[in-house]
Amino acid sequence: MNRREFLLTGAVLLTTSRASFAAGHPRVLTAEALTQQVLPTKYAGHTSVLGFNGSVPGPELRVRQGEQLDVRLQNNLEEGAAVHWHGIRLNNSMDGVPNLTQKLVSPGDSFDYRFTPKDAGTYWYHSHYTSHEQVARGLMGPLIVEEDTPPDVDHDITAVLTDWKLDPEGQLTEDFANMHDVAHAGRMGNFAKAFLPDVALQEGERVRLRLINASVDRIFPVIIEGLSGKVVALDGMPLSTPRDYKMPVLAPAQRVDIIADVIGPFAMAMDNRNGPYPIGDLPVSGRVEPRSASITALPANNRPTPGSETQHLSLKMMGGAMSPRHEGDNIWAFNNVSDMQPDPFARIKLGETVRISLINDTRWQHGIHLHGHHFFELDADGSAGDFRDTSLINPGESRDILCVFDNPGKWMLHCHMLSHQAGGMKTWIEVV
Ligand code: C2O
Ligand code: CU
Repeated sequence: MNRREFLLTGAVLLTTSRASFAAGHPRVLTAEALTQQVLPTKYAGHTSVLGFNGSVPGPELRVRQGEQLDVRLQNNLEEGAAVHWHGIRLNNSMDGVPNLTQKLVSPGDSFDYRFTPKDAGTYWYHSHYTSHEQVARGLMGPLIVEEDTPPDVDHDITAVLTDWKLDPEGQLTEDFANMHDVAHAGRMGNFAKAFLPDVALQEGERVRLRLINASVDRIFPVIIEGLSGKVVALDGMPLSTPRDYKMPVLAPAQRVDIIADVIGPFAMAMDNRNGPYPIGDLPVSGRVEPRSASITALPANNRPTPGSETQHLSLKMMGGAMSPRHEGDNIWAFNNVSDMQPDPFARIKLGETVRISLINDTRWQHGIHLHGHHFFELDADGSAGDFRDTSLINPGESRDILCVFDNPGKWMLHCHMLSHQAGGMKTWIEVV
């Protein structure tokens, strides 16, 4: 095969194959090695990956808001495993972080996860053990929490965005956490795609499109053709007023929900230095009368009301290529400290409202994720803006977030560019 054809930095490749994944309520999520056609079929060879229940992404888990989800992780890998339920405000013991909230699940063993999602919306699950490698190999999948009264749409479409760093044979390169990638923007794939369900659309139909950035390090600016509508939720949480969009930008782990009417051929592309890079499309044929009802806000989740601020913390991102040396032991650091330490970055009393200044003192972008909570991104005037679980901070910039720590336990706070996390940009907070 011609290697140049699928290099992201080279010629644009039309992705014609669409992998679909089954919806349902599996009781067991089996982590296992498998092979899957990742590249379009015209390229020889399946890619060796790690997946759940025979596929990458893993099965789309669906649960009603307020209903209990019971999932047994069965680890059929030859290495440890643990599953994190990204964005879910759940009991700390179910958060899936080895050595912080649970024991690592050994090969052949299982672990029972049980929790009741409070919030409707678009979430996902992924490995939280050597995640820069296990997620890159495919251990992730969508987790959808359905509203009691879902919005009126014809199709509910989940798009899992990923990129893959492949060799000319279509196999993942084994250079996980190499110094160069870790110190720069991370492990950038040379092939990117959106996993989409196998559905056909008609012009005039209304769809809900759930974008999930499941890549390890890549930020996806997504060009969406054939839809006209609005962003209705970020990181699972409904916007009080649906918002116009041109090109949603998703940091790793972020989600964007869009409700839109089909107005032409549906295709998605990633905006890229060399122009749009197609990542997925769905067939559109036929036509129905479009809805006259405008797109309205999703039912609100029960978000905490900030009290008066009891602490103001600063979290300074440091390190990486082209930055001065810091005092941490690894490539990246927060406040001169790399990697997980026996003591938390902060101890916070249950119910406190804390402001954290996220200060990016590096030459690279970072997407900072807090476990177990959502937080308000503060606007320049100090007012509470979007309610998110992952915040993208540009080099040299900073952003204040305000969080009501209403969930007791030990919660990780880390860069969700998982190569940066592997390179030391991680810490934890204890809520007591
Ligand atoms: Cu989605 Cu600690 O991660
Ligand atoms: Cu980072």
